[in-house]
Amino acid sequence: LFRHALLESVKAALSAPLSAPVPLYARIQRALRQLMLDGALPAAASLPAARRLAQSLGVSRDTVEAAYAALHAEGFIERRIGSGSFVSAQVKRLKTDKRRAQAATDAPRLSQRGQKLLASGGLQDVLLPRPFAAGVPETRLFPLPLWQRLQRQVLKEYPSRALQHSPPQGVEELRRAIAAYLNAERGAQATPEQILILTSSQQALNLCATLLLDAGERLLLEDPVYAGARKAFAAAALELVPIAVDEGGLQTAKLSAARALYLTPSHQYPSGATLTLERRLAAIDWARREQAWIIEDDYDSEFHYQGKPTPCVQGLDGGRRTVYIGTFSKSLFPGLRIGYLLLPPSLVAPMTAARSLQDGHSAALPQLTLARFIEGGHFAAHVRSMRGVYATRRDHLAQLLQSRLGDFLHASVPAGGLQMPCTLREGLDEQAVISAAKRIGIDLQGLSSLYAEDGRSGFLLGFAAHAPQEMDAAAARLAALLRRV
Ligand SMILES: Cc1ncc(COP(=O)(O)O)c(C=O)c1O
Repeated sequence: LFRHALLESVKAALSAPLSAPVPLYARIQRALRQLMLDGALPAAASLPAARRLAQSLGVSRDTVEAAYAALHAEGFIERRIGSGSFVSAQVKRLKTDKRRAQAATDAPRLSQRGQKLLASGGLQDVLLPRPFAAGVPETRLFPLPLWQRLQRQVLKEYPSRALQHSPPQGVEELRRAIAAYLNAERGAQATPEQILILTSSQQALNLCATLLLDAGERLLLEDPVYAGARKAFAAAALELVPIAVDEGGLQTAKLSAARALYLTPSHQYPSGATLTLERRLAAIDWARREQAWIIEDDYDSEFHYQGKPTPCVQGLDGGRRTVYIGTFSKSLFPGLRIGYLLLPPSLVAPMTAARSLQDGHSAALPQLTLARFIEGGHFAAHVRSMRGVYATRRDHLAQLLQSRLGDFLHASVPAGGLQMPCTLREGLDEQAVISAAKRIGIDLQGLSSLYAEDGRSGFLLGFAAHAPQEMDAAAARLAALLRRV
């Protein structure tokens, strides 16, 4: 006998909104299967004749037949001609302890590594940049039609390369183009064989954190520091030792014994300081003495507004102790998801093997398209043109800060990059301003959370992603808000 309650639960499953895209017969099949697993329909229990169940459910007999056939194919029921359908002897009730089941959904039991990852809060990248989101380039001026044309060419010329797996180290054309760019523009010492193409700087940071150091080993890092780097290193359970930064960048006199040092020498994040030559050389000396690694994050050095940027540490070091990280997230667009490592030769095979375990390889189509974009001179042209746009926007923001926001914020105008650090006048609460600004469509990155302790209050204001008029309007709103707070 198919009891009333069971019938009702099948009916309820049929009308559940989530099951709308599932065919009717499959909904019946799933509902019956669940009843068997819950023990409501135990082994050997008989199921109603298809015709009767169809009548009770208000569906066609064929639908119920299809559900029964599917359950039979799965091994849930046996069907005997003349005597009907029965729950198969193989079916066992799955025991569920309600309390435990609830605990599992409330707080999953994670590994220690997983707990550290969760505690970091992950990264919250800006999705749709609003004024003054930091570190975001202007994507509206990206030459999309040109990119589309190059992508079409790649698909036409190398359909199988674009659609098949590609090498974990990255496609050769792109590695060649990047090495040439780094040698010419960044004073690096790079060969294509030393380049490893990744999805981002973030992936590079994670690879460094897990391949170059063991849990508990010391890593020195800038204070204040880029949160993405700190979180990647913390998630790898490293001992993080902050080293203060001043106008000359990280204070190398404070370097101590460690396995690695994280640096943003061209344009310190978030202060904007450039590491002096003397300190670059001191860091290299330290690394050679300690047999330690320098992790050089050169995230936005394409954008410099006063003269040429200083050559990278990797070039000065001859690439012996330096692992150089680059990304196209700032110079082109963050959705591209292409970053890279320039590695000492001995690290190429281990890093490539590790990345192959993480995600196999980066997508071939964007890599091949980007290689063409660089080879065709379009990368250099785009960076040149954006440098002009960003310089104007930087100056505009500096002027706005003085004329409209000078009572509340004090800006340090950076020589490069996409963002301007500003300190907040004493007595104003950074977090309160951030929350209130969010409500009026303004994204502020607070400074104090980037310090190891006792950080100065203030913001990192992005100036690259918005035109001067857009910044004007936002600055007026922000000024009104600051007067209110
Ligand atoms: C210092 C620093 N490194 C790396 C990145 C991130 O680059 P990617 O998008 O390639 O992970 C950023 C972005 O804000 C950054 O500021």
